Amino acid sequence: MAKQIDYQPANPSNISMACYVTDSASIQKAVEAVQASLGATGLNLLINNAGINSYATLETLTADDMMAVYQTNVVGPLLVSKAFLPSLKKAAQALDLEGMSCNKAAIINITSLLGSIKLSQKNFSLAPMYPYRLSKAALNMASMCLSEDLKQYQILCTAIHPGWVQTDMGGMKAPLPVADSVSSMLKVFASLSQCDTGKFLDREGKEVDW
Ligand SMILES: NC(=O)c1ccc[n+]([C@@H]2O[C@H](COP(=O)([O-])OP(=O)(O)OC[C@H]3O[C@@H](n4cnc5c(N)ncnc54)[C@H](OP(=O)(O)O)[C@@H]3O)[C@@H](O)[C@H]2O)c1
Repeated sequence: MAKQIDYQPANPSNISMACYVTDSASIQKAVEAVQASLGATGLNLLINNAGINSYATLETLTADDMMAVYQTNVVGPLLVSKAFLPSLKKAAQALDLEGMSCNKAAIINITSLLGSIKLSQKNFSLAPMYPYRLSKAALNMASMCLSEDLKQYQILCTAIHPGWVQTDMGGMKAPLPVADSVSSMLKVFASLSQCDTGKFLDREGKEVDW
């Protein structure tokens, strides 16, 4: 975890639990646990981070592989967002804060540059991973849909690329330690406002081409 954390939730509360985003019963359990813990304050910030990768190329991809990645990277975040919507709405109503922010009520979808259709003209050959690229492009659309839909409730939704990070997925060739990625994203979370809902940003807050 990051050593320095600039983002400070308005109502900090620690709950730890497993939630399998491909399993409706597991999502529901997580919602109930969060509701029981947070009560009337609601949930200020939902970060859809869970994701899986597939290195399948056009030659190697299968329908099963495509569907598994789509299920986790697109259906999962959307169902989790839907399930936590009542808690996010509660938070948006409970706090008398001007405009939208992560302190009020927000959904952050952790996406990837590989989901950018525009950038794929330049970077496709570096990572010709069809299932993953398609899933993150679809997640980007889900973020845009959510941002438009949830403006009425003052709930912000932004898609963020964490950088190429030294995780199981990113591998050890990745230049970015987890702590650096996390600390820079936390700064971006803290800076997000009304004008950032519906944007695709990198970990430094710069806009990424769709
Ligand atoms: N690493 C990078 O360079 C990079 C770049 C761009 C975007 N991203 C995105 O950043 C996010 C985090 O990736 P990461 O690099 O940390 O990958 P990771 O090291 O492979 O970790 C993925 C995490 O997602 C969890 N997960 C997978 N399927 C799940 C499910 N059905 N329900 C709940 N949790 C599930 C995994 O849990 P288990 O360990 O229990 O399986 C694991 O904690 C992903 O959305 C990824 O696409 C990563």
